[in-house]
Amino acid sequence: MKEDGIKDRRSDITITDLDSLRAVMIGRQIGEYKITEEVGRGGMGIVYMGIHTFLEQDVAIKMLNPAMTLDPQIKERFLNEAKIQCKLSHPNITTIHNFLQFESYYCIVMEYIPGKLIKIKDVSKRERNLSQAIVIRGPQTLVEIKNTVLQILKALTYAHSKNIIHRDIKPSNILFTELGIPKLSDFGIAKIIGGEKTKTTTGQAIGTAWYISPEQVMGKLVDARSDIYSLGITLYEMATGKVPFDGDTDFAIYKAHLEKRPKNPRDLNPNIAKELESIILKCIAKEPANRYASAQDLYRAVESLQFGKANASIPTPKNKQAKKIIITRKKLFNPVPYLLPIFFIIAIITAYLLLKNVVRLPFLVQKPSKNFTMVPDLRGMQADQAADTLKTLRLHLQAIKENETNKYKAGVICNQEENPGDTLAVGDTVKVYLSKEMIKFCSNCHAPVTLDQKFCTKCNTRIRE
Ligand SMILES: Nc1ncnc2c1ncn2[C@@H]1O[C@H](COP(=O)(O)OP(=O)(O)OP(=O)(O)O)[C@@H](O)[C@H]1O
Ligand SMILES: [Mg+2]
Repeated sequence: MKEDGIKDRRSDITITDLDSLRAVMIGRQIGEYKITEEVGRGGMGIVYMGIHTFLEQDVAIKMLNPAMTLDPQIKERFLNEAKIQCKLSHPNITTIHNFLQFESYYCIVMEYIPGKLIKIKDVSKRERNLSQAIVIRGPQTLVEIKNTVLQILKALTYAHSKNIIHRDIKPSNILFTELGIPKLSDFGIAKIIGGEKTKTTTGQAIGTAWYISPEQVMGKLVDARSDIYSLGITLYEMATGKVPFDGDTDFAIYKAHLEKRPKNPRDLNPNIAKELESIILKCIAKEPANRYASAQDLYRAVESLQFGKANASIPTPKNKQAKKIIITRKKLFNPVPYLLPIFFIIAIITAYLLLKNVVRLPFLVQKPSKNFTMVPDLRGMQADQAADTLKTLRLHLQAIKENETNKYKAGVICNQEENPGDTLAVGDTVKVYLSKEMIKFCSNCHAPVTLDQKFCTKCNTRIRE
């Protein structure tokens, strides 16, 4: 392992180069695409938003920093990204549309993922990727963790089934659609498994320092368990807001991956469930043999996490002083003399609500501890994707009838009976309307099927007449 062994971090490119590149490119027509604005920058260049001028389709154009085309290894990685990602077709993996080469520029044209709009104190913000989500809002809730990680594990299960290891799983490579559906991107350093191919030619470590597995650091052969490690570091960051191994240089971070014991996530956020902590620590075990053996195994573990036990987003008193304030307040305030009047006030309010039939008695008597959950926005999703999203929230899906709409593609949810943001009890059903044409659904996996289909293309279940 060499201290200067990686050419993957932002410090390797000077901002001035990219600024002049940006100035030249905005407004320029490249083949059928017009570059409209900059979306973001990464270690290999700039990602622009563009438009296909005939189809008027928004696209993302990732342009390799021209200075880097001189480095054959970086050029190869860039071409590799396009080639490998082209082999993959999955709802949780970004789709590649095209590859362009002109003058000294190399561009990957891909599906544009706009990010989800969130509101913080009445200010709208766009979270393009998981990295931004963690930076903007800190640790994620268990609902968010399950929703994101389960869908990314589906993408990984699929890629691994094709013998493709991502090798650069990290929050900035998990993009969000407008509806918050996560998509895995950047198969830039991915390799197809097969002997020495999983190593770089020089045996150097590649992958972003904070998320790289110990075997990648050592330039050893890697398999699916290396992606499990990097996803484990991502999970750690989602739950605590921090990465487990940090340092001033890449070298220091690599060393920590190899030698350092991570802090228990619950030491950083005590609201994390013990079960989630165990999952995270198993993912980031130094020895691949001690991790989950496959993405499916990890999927099952994450899926079994129970709500109500943990909510990673609850902030905790950060320092001793905050704790002291709480303890002092407890000492000063003695609630005993107030209990009787408070009890009477509550009794009067409850009696009033019961008489007005606002609070239903069976609900109060039978299940006082029933859990509730918020209805997500399912519009624009396929029925099977919506069923998965609801499953993580312990809700059910019922597709009741099709609606005519020209806003959504056939077979896509265009409306829902229970509005996004409504509160439902766990186990309840959300009824959705699907846009016209594909009016049948597989009884097993809820995938839309055409009228003449006899078997579901997704799970092969026989479609009833
Ligand atoms: N298809 C896309 N649609 C919309 N935004 C995208 C798309 N691909 C990438 N981006 C955004 O562009 C920015 C740069 O992405 P890029 O993949 O180049 O770098 P990165 O993943 O942040 O870092 P690194 O290069 O170190 O891997 C990110 O903020 C990402 O959210
Ligand atoms: Mg990226």
